[in-house]
Amino acid sequence: MIERTYTDRVIAPSLLAADFSRIQEEVSKAIKAGADWLHLDVMDGHFVDNISFGPAIINAIHETNDIFLDVHLMISRPDHYLDRFVEAGSDLITVHVEAEHDVRETLRRIKAAGCQAGLALNPATPFSEVEPFLSDIDLFLCMTVVPGFGGQSFMPEVMPKIVAAEEYREKHGLNFHIQVDGGLTKETAPPSYQAGANVIVAGSSTFKADDMALAIQEIREA
Ligand code: DX5
Ligand code: ZN
Repeated sequence: MIERTYTDRVIAPSLLAADFSRIQEEVSKAIKAGADWLHLDVMDGHFVDNISFGPAIINAIHETNDIFLDVHLMISRPDHYLDRFVEAGSDLITVHVEAEHDVRETLRRIKAAGCQAGLALNPATPFSEVEPFLSDIDLFLCMTVVPGFGGQSFMPEVMPKIVAAEEYREKHGLNFHIQVDGGLTKETAPPSYQAGANVIVAGSSTFKADDMALAIQEIREA
């Protein structure tokens, strides 16, 4: 698998927007269309107002495909479920700073398990909440919608938090990806790149496009 750094543009289609009656075909379609990572949105009906899928689905995808699995845990107790997502075959596990856990300890356990560690921030949460953990992460996820559902509108007002993360990374000589998630299209990718993001999660605009390869290419080159 290709190792990517924060100077690379990474496109991560979100499976949440795929046709769940044909998950395997949809994953193959994303890989053939040039997806770099597959973004997997796990929702527990508690941290967010929706329920999606869990480790069994992720493991089935892991066993039958060769693509980097970017797992976004929108769950209240990521520490409790962590081992199951590691065993499922996750490559990167992102947890929310707002969830009920010892953030530093969860990040440490993710890395100790051999996965990359991501930390996510909701639109309403200030950047200062993630600052103490930025030297412990491989990826900072700045939510550009209120998490829970695909197909929502991008919130440009969170861009200053990306700029702040980029400046912090520069100043402290750190090395983490900056990911945006929610409402990403070829129109909303440019302001995100400009602010400093390099990983674009795109659900509706990729899986629901007539030509997924073209959609991914347009977001990559936007
Ligand atoms: C939102 C999820 C997103 C979602 C993005 O709670 O975290 O990953 O799937 O979907 P789109 O790209 O349709 O906004
Ligand atoms: Zn997500």
